[in-house]
Amino acid sequence: MKGIILAGGKGSRLYPLTEVVTKQLQPIYNKPMIYYPLSMLMLSGIKEVMIICNECDKPLFEKLLGDGSQFGISLEFKVQDAPNGLPEAFILGEEFIAEQDVCLLLGDNIFYGDFDIFRTAYQNQLAKENDLHARVFAYKVTDPERYGVVDFDPDSKRVVDLEEKPTHPKSPYAIPGFYFFDKTVSRRSKELRPSPRGELEIIDLMQSYLDDNSLAVEILGRGIAWLDTGTPESLCQASDFVAAVEQRQGFKIACLEEISYKMGLIDKSKMIENIENMPNCEYKDYLNSILKDEL
Ligand code: DAU
Repeated sequence: MKGIILAGGKGSRLYPLTEVVTKQLQPIYNKPMIYYPLSMLMLSGIKEVMIICNECDKPLFEKLLGDGSQFGISLEFKVQDAPNGLPEAFILGEEFIAEQDVCLLLGDNIFYGDFDIFRTAYQNQLAKENDLHARVFAYKVTDPERYGVVDFDPDSKRVVDLEEKPTHPKSPYAIPGFYFFDKTVSRRSKELRPSPRGELEIIDLMQSYLDDNSLAVEILGRGIAWLDTGTPESLCQASDFVAAVEQRQGFKIACLEEISYKMGLIDKSKMIENIENMPNCEYKDYLNSILKDEL
């Protein structure tokens, strides 16, 4: 399975923060935002990732993340000329996807908690469980009108209705920016037409699978935190959340070097090399402590 992180857009709600630094490179406590969705893909078991971004930001992402080999994965970058909508990721990424399943993560979505549901979703997607070829998550929120909203049958988990930012939501379940699609996703995306707001809509792509009775929904329960980062307030709250958990537990969230080492994507000598390339800092001390704890 391939992974795509959509890290473009204007970040207008975060102006003037985003005038020079793109949203997905803003700090979430002690790491750039992009670390969090990238960690989700790595934890899911995905090793080939494309990051889609604005042209001016491409050198910055490349400087930060390189070709991914330091994390034992392969990373490539693709420019999106304008924010033409989320499904454009599958048009721009068609060659990269190469007729495989693909997981799309929005670069500003942060998750934390029991990861089993994501791993299970990944396995179910590969197995096309119940002959369902796309899967999305449902997360109960108090303000569903701000998101894509899914209504579903709680027993069969079959989706019955989808709406993007409805004025009167039919259900309290928002659809987070974490989606699995099968190999038909690029063809389906090319068949979409822009909505009245001039964008290709992810909800229309999901609807295409729903029309084929092929869309599954996985419910994210209380054990998962899904954090928003779209406004200055929510950006601060996400940082505070990560800081609180990290300081209390002593573990880091979305520490890419740690994840790659613990998942066996890199060996000890690569881990040591990664650490040696870092300036002296608390992040480096943390990674050194992981190696020391093993002794
Ligand atoms: O966060 C989850 C929500 O994300 C979903 O519930 C909605 O169904 C989905 O449409 C999306 O809603 P947003 O209003 O948050 O979408 P936004 O336009 O802000 O884009 C989300 C991210 O994707 C943001 O980091 C910018 C990036 N993006 C967006 C577009 C439209 C791109 O990189 N390229 C694009 O063309």
